[in-house]
Amino acid sequence: MSELVRVERRAAVAILTLDRPERMNALSWATVQRMGEIGRELASDPSVLVVILTGTGEKAFCAGADLKERQGMSRSQVREMLSAYRSELTWLEQSEFVSVAAINGVALGGGLELALTCDLRIAAPLASFGLPETGLGIIPGAGGTQRMARLLGESRALDLVLTGRRIDSSEALTLGLVNRIAPSAEELLESTLKWLEPVAGGAPIAQRAALSAVRAARRLPLEQGLDFERAAYDRCLDSADRDEALLALSEKRKPRFLGK
Ligand code: COA
Repeated sequence: MSELVRVERRAAVAILTLDRPERMNALSWATVQRMGEIGRELASDPSVLVVILTGTGEKAFCAGADLKERQGMSRSQVREMLSAYRSELTWLEQSEFVSVAAINGVALGGGLELALTCDLRIAAPLASFGLPETGLGIIPGAGGTQRMARLLGESRALDLVLTGRRIDSSEALTLGLVNRIAPSAEELLESTLKWLEPVAGGAPIAQRAALSAVRAARRLPLEQGLDFERAAYDRCLDSADRDEALLALSEKRKPRFLGK
């Protein structure tokens, strides 16, 4: 029996793997509910600093909505599903840890929207990306129009949303849709872990403050954003880890952060 989403812990990092390869890791109702449960568990665990989301196999990160399940759904069930995307997945961009999509294959429709809900994205060289919804007579319904426009700007978002065209990893990198490309599919997870090492092994108070301050830039006007940054800085200034970092620098050694 597939677990829908596998969860593995490596110290401060939680690795979630969408595990429905026979359906290209598509988002069924149960998968979305399971993601919500996992999000609630992780949010209550202060030892988690990084969450990596990936998919089983090399073909798909996530092929979006489970179209086989969707065929049997009434319109009101589809509406419930759209609400569930929001209530069960938004934790990826709201929790106190950084979320990273490690995109191992196709990220289409809701699959790309899931990746857009994460803070950061890394892709395998042969991954591909697209929002094909308009070609199916609908539009992206898991935040894709909003997050894509915020991340890439209106013009680039319109190109991808209106044409529904599929792009490869190198175009995704050029557009800023992904932060980086791993050297190979096999090295995707290790590359992600290495990239995020400074976060997972960093000073937790500073990491959380930095994350919340940059996220705040999305929603706050500049003056309020500067106040937010100042308050976040103050939390770091009062921390023992900040004193430890200065001491370690003077003693020419690595700091030992305690999250205090
Ligand atoms: N939901 C449910 N099952 C899906 C799926 C989805 N979104 N995408 C793929 N699958 C299933 C296929 O039905 C097939 O199962 P089957 O062999 O039992 O029929 C299996 O996954 C493999 O898919 P297949 O199309 O044979 O593989 P491929 O490598 O040729 O193409 C995709 C892969 C993902 C490009 C293609 O399946 C596709 O375009 N899927 C739809 C994606 C989409 O439009 N998503 C957005 C929805 S809004």
